[in-house]
Amino acid sequence: MTANPLFGRDVISMTDFDRDDVKAVFKMTERCKKEGKSSALNQKIIASCFFEPSTRTRFSFEAAAFRLGAEVLGFGNEQMLSVKKGESLHDTVRMLDQYADLMVIRHPLEGSARLAAEVAEIPVINAGDGANQHPTQALTDVFTIQECQGRLDGLAIALVGDLKYGRTIHSLVELCALFDIRLYLVSPEALTLTDAFCDRLKKRSVRFSFHQTIEEVISSVDILYLTRIQRERFLKCSFISDPEELVLRPELLKKARSHLKILHPLPRLAELPREIDETPFACYFDQARNGLFVRQALLTMILNETVT
Ligand code: CP
Repeated sequence: MTANPLFGRDVISMTDFDRDDVKAVFKMTERCKKEGKSSALNQKIIASCFFEPSTRTRFSFEAAAFRLGAEVLGFGNEQMLSVKKGESLHDTVRMLDQYADLMVIRHPLEGSARLAAEVAEIPVINAGDGANQHPTQALTDVFTIQECQGRLDGLAIALVGDLKYGRTIHSLVELCALFDIRLYLVSPEALTLTDAFCDRLKKRSVRFSFHQTIEEVISSVDILYLTRIQRERFLKCSFISDPEELVLRPELLKKARSHLKILHPLPRLAELPREIDETPFACYFDQARNGLFVRQALLTMILNETVT
């Protein structure tokens, strides 16, 4: 392992990371959280390319860049781009490659971030490609889990909601598989984790089981990770109704372990009522804030060889 294993790398999928990479990112995240602003990226330019809507990922990446002294160029939708004149993603990426030192990209097409990384000379960070991957969210999630529970190995985590189309879930299960974490997969049958993911979990000896209600698992887990149903990803199957069994009704928390923490990548819908915000179990706003420090750590490490 080199002193800084992230230097010059793309961040496209959680499958590209090993345990040492994750530990190095978390160490730098703790440092960024403690030290705040720095001039680590003075003279650097970050391209912030969001072809899909975003609140947390876009603004935390941009805030992270500003906190490191970098300049940011970019867009929050493609309406102002020459994509509207028919320019391809390939050519758009080739242009941004000339103007920036690192590219953050969110795009509705699965595989778009990998394509951008193949085209660009500069490092590319995947900020979400369709229903595929959202690696910086998973790093944020697992950093928060370690922070609130004091460990990762030996934990039991329930993943609740849309496990089929949720890209945060796809990255999170890959990251959990690097640790000794037991997974409870809670979803309607039509939205469960795909066979391809389950096969990978089996190969890596991850313990997991399937469930259809929060009630079945709430007393067995240390982390309840809720997600919304990703309706924008399956319009053709919109017969799937919002499952009542996956709404975290406050009374369900009576059965929870006292140290349970609730995470959610946000945005939330009906599955996470606002009454939960005031309970000691709620951790999702801390989680969203940690996204800033995780992204600060990634930008610092990718663009600076000598940081450790
Ligand atoms: N968690 C997440 O990706 O949120 P945004 O879509 O607002 O970026």
